[in-house]
Amino acid sequence: MPMSAIAILGGTGQQGRGLAQRFAYAGARVIVGSRDPQRARETVAAWAGAAGSTVEAAGPPIEVADNIAAVEQLEQGDLTVLAVPFTTVDTLLTELHSHFRDGSIVIDVTVPVTFSGGQMAMLEVAEGSASEHIRARLPQGVQLAAAFKTIPAALLSAGRQPLECDEFVCGDSAEARRQAAALVELLPGARPVDVGALSRARFIEHLTALAIAVNRTHKIHDARFRVVGLR
Ligand SMILES: NC(=O)c1ccc[n+]([C@@H]2O[C@H](COP(=O)([O-])OP(=O)(O)OC[C@H]3O[C@@H](n4cnc5c(N)ncnc54)[C@H](OP(=O)(O)O)[C@@H]3O)[C@@H](O)[C@H]2O)c1
Repeated sequence: MPMSAIAILGGTGQQGRGLAQRFAYAGARVIVGSRDPQRARETVAAWAGAAGSTVEAAGPPIEVADNIAAVEQLEQGDLTVLAVPFTTVDTLLTELHSHFRDGSIVIDVTVPVTFSGGQMAMLEVAEGSASEHIRARLPQGVQLAAAFKTIPAALLSAGRQPLECDEFVCGDSAEARRQAAALVELLPGARPVDVGALSRARFIEHLTALAIAVNRTHKIHDARFRVVGLR
């Protein structure tokens, strides 16, 4: 079966960059969505030219488009990854609303944390989690899963270094969870752990805050999680 194409909105950012590069290493067609495709083109070109980069050699070149065009060019079965700051999703989803294909799948990476004056804070989200907030703003025919919320950007963008961690997946349909788990499996050393309904995203998002706290307390950049006892 051919691999799905993956549009990563916010793919120029810290988290999106690592995902884009690693999906490309795995041989997927990757489209980095941006508000400014010209700036994104320069950013992506710089990745390919970076010391030690094997992006070009490893898979198809990473494409670039504005966020709407990135979503519009997806075919049935392709995936959209939402990797923008949580505080910006409302505007972006309003812009994209009429452009999603019915039956398409969105993978939400966002975490409702803010960093102000060096302090991390979780935002209160009326729906219970960033993912449920996003669900309420997507067309009904679009399925949603959450993934990649607890993998740190510093590790994701560290070339091909195995991730050596579990990644929690939840979603509003079995198919969305299956597709998100398949994406996690593209990343060497990452094991998907399906935790069920989309409402579980609130627990995952708090785990991300915990990982940030571990990083800060222990002066590291790559705290992440592993579940023991799973077969
Ligand atoms: N960083 C981590 O370690 C980490 C880990 C887990 C989850 N996450 C989550 O992943 C998401 C992205 O995090 P990040 O650290 O990669 O963020 P970031 O680097 O600050 O931003 C990501 C990208 O979002 C786009 N963006 C910024 N403002 C926007 C706006 N107003 N409207 C639309 N797009 C906008 C930008 O792309 P363009 O300028 O090209 O449009 C930017 O490159 C967040 O929700 C975060 O909570 C991050």
